[in-house]
Amino acid sequence: MANSEYEYVKREFEFESRLPPSNWIVVRIDGCHFHRFSKIHTFEKPNDESALRLMNACATSMLEKFPDIVFAYGVSDEYSFVFREETEFYQRRESKILSLCVSYFTSMYVMKWKDFFPNKELKEPPYFDGRVVCYPNLKTIRDYLAWRQVDCHINNQYNTCFWLLVKSGKTEKEAQQALKGTFSKDKNELLLQQFQINYDDELAMFRKGSCVYRDKVETKVKTDRSGNPIKRTRLVITVANVDIIGPEFWEKHQYILREEKCRYEYVKKFDINHRIPPCNWTVVSINANQFEQFSLTHSFDKPNDETALRLMNASASLMLELFPDIVFGYGFSNEYSFVFQEKTELYQRQESLILSSCTSCFTSFYMMKWKDFFPNKDLVEPPHFEAELLCYPKQKIVCDYLSSRQAECHTSNQYNTCFWMLVKSGKSENEAHQILKGTLSKDKNELLFQQFQLNYNNEPAMFRKGSCTYRQKVEEYVEVEGSENITRERWDVIVEHVDLGMEFWRKRPYILSR
Ligand code: GTP
Ligand code: MG
Repeated sequence: MANSEYEYVKREFEFESRLPPSNWIVVRIDGCHFHRFSKIHTFEKPNDESALRLMNACATSMLEKFPDIVFAYGVSDEYSFVFREETEFYQRRESKILSLCVSYFTSMYVMKWKDFFPNKELKEPPYFDGRVVCYPNLKTIRDYLAWRQVDCHINNQYNTCFWLLVKSGKTEKEAQQALKGTFSKDKNELLLQQFQINYDDELAMFRKGSCVYRDKVETKVKTDRSGNPIKRTRLVITVANVDIIGPEFWEKHQYILREEKCRYEYVKKFDINHRIPPCNWTVVSINANQFEQFSLTHSFDKPNDETALRLMNASASLMLELFPDIVFGYGFSNEYSFVFQEKTELYQRQESLILSSCTSCFTSFYMMKWKDFFPNKDLVEPPHFEAELLCYPKQKIVCDYLSSRQAECHTSNQYNTCFWMLVKSGKSENEAHQILKGTLSKDKNELLFQQFQLNYNNEPAMFRKGSCTYRQKVEEYVEVEGSENITRERWDVIVEHVDLGMEFWRKRPYILSR
């Protein structure tokens, strides 16, 4: 299908997320519905030795098949596979690595079933789910493995007690009750007193789970002329049921999780730039940080400072002039959202570059324009903004997003108008909050009208509806170029304070579908 007109659906939409370099990659798989699976196949409780050996055999096959797996740890129906830190297996593509691991493991499980259960038919297909987790350093990967082994210990000790109690005649409920709130040493005591079992004598595979790795084994390859053995160390895949929480194992096997040398050109790979998926609408929503303090310092009017809002609008208009791909801006209070046209190629759609440049630019405009709007007020504190980038697949959702911001503008402005009227009339801030608690929109309109003879709908539209910033065609003119007349258009950025409903978009279809 190369180069057909349809080929773009793959090229542009397939995102293969790559796992960050220089991290140990762990794929942890877990049997799906193994509670049921173990029942159907009458596994022994709480541990079925054959079932666990089958899991270990599959894990061993994984290490044989995939040389970049340096360690595996398994317990019950789960297995974790650790890929070496700098593995380039499938260029570290997450979905490839994950799917291949669960699939190969499953395949081995079915193939090897009859080796471990020669007298049991496989009655249902076993299957596994899995996840990928990255661990950036030696401490975290070791702690991850220790966490799994601690889990193994806790579960196995509990299950051992539980099933012995049940087998001795208790109901499952009674067994649960007997174990509730007990500590590790209480359980050991119980096993010893009631069943004459020393927990430490239980199979190490049950108590510690299973580790699969390549062990250094010395083998005699031949003897030299004087009869001395010539030895060679080979790496042999080994299953061991040993402690991996303490340092001993890792001190003896430093080569397993050694940190690899970082080659210089490698550092580039850390520069992972997320790109916005194609045919999606990008919204950058900018919000002033610590604005409460900022507005206090610059003694802005409460609840709305008209000049401050006009400064926000002026900065937004400049944004539309500087970034032709911004098709719409909507702002109120201390926030402004900018909608980019669907197909923008600004910074090749790299998220962090779009987000940062917009925020920085807006900050600059705000500060440069300050003097025009507040000629008698010095800017004594640096305004600063935070922003987030939103991504919407449908135009309709963008409109809904904008409507939701306008609804928020309405709610908060109505509340604040009431609140500050009450405060200015002598109420404490606490009292004002109490009065407004639980009131509905129409109660607030009522309150404003009754107590302050104020009709909320007569308040300035900029306060009630926020501000819409967009381009409007203001002029069409004809220019003579040579012998030709060319019609040109002039578009200006305008600011309006209107409802952003269906009607708005129906009347101005050109805004979003340029
Ligand atoms: P999901 O993983 O969410 O699909 O559920 P699950 O049923 O697989 O349960 P989970 O992975 O949380 O726990 C594993 C379950 O497998 C245990 O609760 C046991 O019921 C069962 N299991 C695992 N190993 C053995 C075993 O050696 N013997 C027996 N009898 N059951 C086992
Ligand atoms: Mg499971």
